[in-house]
Amino acid sequence: MSYLDKIDKTHLPKHIAVIMDGNGRWAQQRGLDRTFGHKEGEAAVRRAIEAVAIAGVPYLTLYAFSTENWRRPEEEIKALMALMIQAVSRQTAELVKNNVRVKVIGDIARLPEDTQKALDYCLQTTSVCTGSTVIIALSYSSKWEITEAVKAIAADIEAGKIETKDITENLITSYLATKDYPDPDILIRTGGELRISNFLLWQIAYSELYFTDELWPEFNEESLYKAIVDYQNRERRFGKTSQQVSGNP
Ligand code: FPP
Repeated sequence: MSYLDKIDKTHLPKHIAVIMDGNGRWAQQRGLDRTFGHKEGEAAVRRAIEAVAIAGVPYLTLYAFSTENWRRPEEEIKALMALMIQAVSRQTAELVKNNVRVKVIGDIARLPEDTQKALDYCLQTTSVCTGSTVIIALSYSSKWEITEAVKAIAADIEAGKIETKDITENLITSYLATKDYPDPDILIRTGGELRISNFLLWQIAYSELYFTDELWPEFNEESLYKAIVDYQNRERRFGKTSQQVSGNP
């Protein structure tokens, strides 16, 4: 029986965020160059997108390249940027077919021009799609995003558009790159590491965390459905007591 059949369709997560870790180790375990792991990672990206589209999850955010990843060897960065171009060119038609809209968050201006162009094409072409939304975090880190938000809030105060007393949690949220998306219900990290790595720190305040030892290239549809089932068995209390949540006196 597939985990898909165990999913309660009336209690789906609205947003799944994923830290796709383990590409390099997957390749090294096979005596291959790390870039082979990233290539295989593209196939796992395709499977994850298809799986959320099938399950009916509205938002999927994928951490594809962090601000800190710019510190990797130049050759690996080049290979990753080239892979992004190939991946979006290869996948755009399939994304449209699956009615999937693509968005990006991150310091996109830092990406090479040809990578930006390829992304633009994918964003434009899929902008008409009305099914699931896939948000690719590229050259992204949460501290970068929050710093940009603070700068923009300060600039709007200086320009007289808002006042300090207007600053609320909702206002801060509205200055983040993710302002148009709900907070993730689940954060999945593959690859066995138990950390958040500067990803969506504000947005995951109440997300359920799910860690798996599977390396990203091994992650498949069943792995994703299994994570959803696990999420559905958790009690989300948002600071309340268990009794309050269940409605029992
Ligand atoms: C982390 O594994 C993965 C990355 C830094 C890159 C993720 C990129 C892809 C999955 C390629 C395709 C992506 C899209 C959105 C088309 P790692 O290299 O840190 O692995 P390690 O921890 O084993 O070294």
